[in-house]
Amino acid sequence: MTHYKELGLVNSRELFAKAIKGGYAIPAFNFNNLEQLQAIIAACVETKSPVILQVSSGARKYANQTLLKHLAKGAVEYAQELGYPIPIVLHLDHGDSFELCKSCIESGFSSVMIDGSHLPYEENVKLTKKVVDFAHQYDVTVEGELGVLAGIEDNVASEVTHYTKPEEVEDFVSKTGVDSLAISIGTSHGANKFKPEQCTRTQDGVLIPPPLRFDILEEIEKRIPGFPIVLHGASSVPVDLVRTINTFGGKLKDAVGIPEDQLRRAAKSAVCKINIDSDGRLAVTAAVRKYLAENPAEFDPRKYLGPAREQLKELYKHKIINVLGSAGQA
Ligand code: G3H
Ligand code: 13P
Ligand code: ZN
Repeated sequence: MTHYKELGLVNSRELFAKAIKGGYAIPAFNFNNLEQLQAIIAACVETKSPVILQVSSGARKYANQTLLKHLAKGAVEYAQELGYPIPIVLHLDHGDSFELCKSCIESGFSSVMIDGSHLPYEENVKLTKKVVDFAHQYDVTVEGELGVLAGIEDNVASEVTHYTKPEEVEDFVSKTGVDSLAISIGTSHGANKFKPEQCTRTQDGVLIPPPLRFDILEEIEKRIPGFPIVLHGASSVPVDLVRTINTFGGKLKDAVGIPEDQLRRAAKSAVCKINIDSDGRLAVTAAVRKYLAENPAEFDPRKYLGPAREQLKELYKHKIINVLGSAGQA
């Protein structure tokens, strides 16, 4: 057993309490490899933002759990070396079983998500409570989920969104003892969050999605005042990145995300964790495609991963400063 404190990590409890009071959200950026981790830490140190490093079960398989533990410890030391020791949470994204959550807690994670949102309500409560009871013995914080986002969630594809039912949240939170709650108010995973027919199209062909359901968020906040809320599927799918990808050989069609002004509004509410993965993937892919198209004889990975890492860092800094509002809060 490696406890997260041995790695220099923190859980999310205090960060969320401060974020709700301060009207900002903590960035939860997914990572799978060294370059993504370097970009996240550099962006957060430069902006003095706390950060949640998110690892999905797929990322854990891809990167290897032993390496991940050392990467997280390395991230803490890297931030110090860069000159500012920011609070870092290592979080399991979309955990789908008690066993996976337990294994992550035993290998140094300071926070886990147990995603029982696809289960019938009572089964979701039972599974979530089991994870909370285990996690809290080690002071690890737990995120649960109510409501289903459209798109791919933990390898389960849902065609339609099932919004969170505000009348369930109080009961869920008190029965399970979770530390934060992911809700569904119209975001979804991936780079195609809405079908074109759900959107309006501007003259230059840009898709404008339907607005998030702030009425549901407000109803939830009334029922569990001050409780930390999490927003998944919060990539904005920047038009310039999609254009670059398509200009240099990509084939992304009808990609559309959540407008940043809506995320800004959410960050000022009880939403204190905002999950962003797809935008980072787009930034890396755009930079790699462009570099390789313009330098076809190059074959040193550092030559194309270096600019990709730089573009990723700039994207994260932009999110922290202009969208989440977490700059200066570390
Ligand atoms: O919500 C899902 C995250 O974007 C992680 O995706 O399972 O492909 O690593 P992944
Ligand atoms: P995006 O696909 O919108 O980046 O969402 C990521 C996410 O919710 C990870 O859990
Ligand atoms: Zn998610």
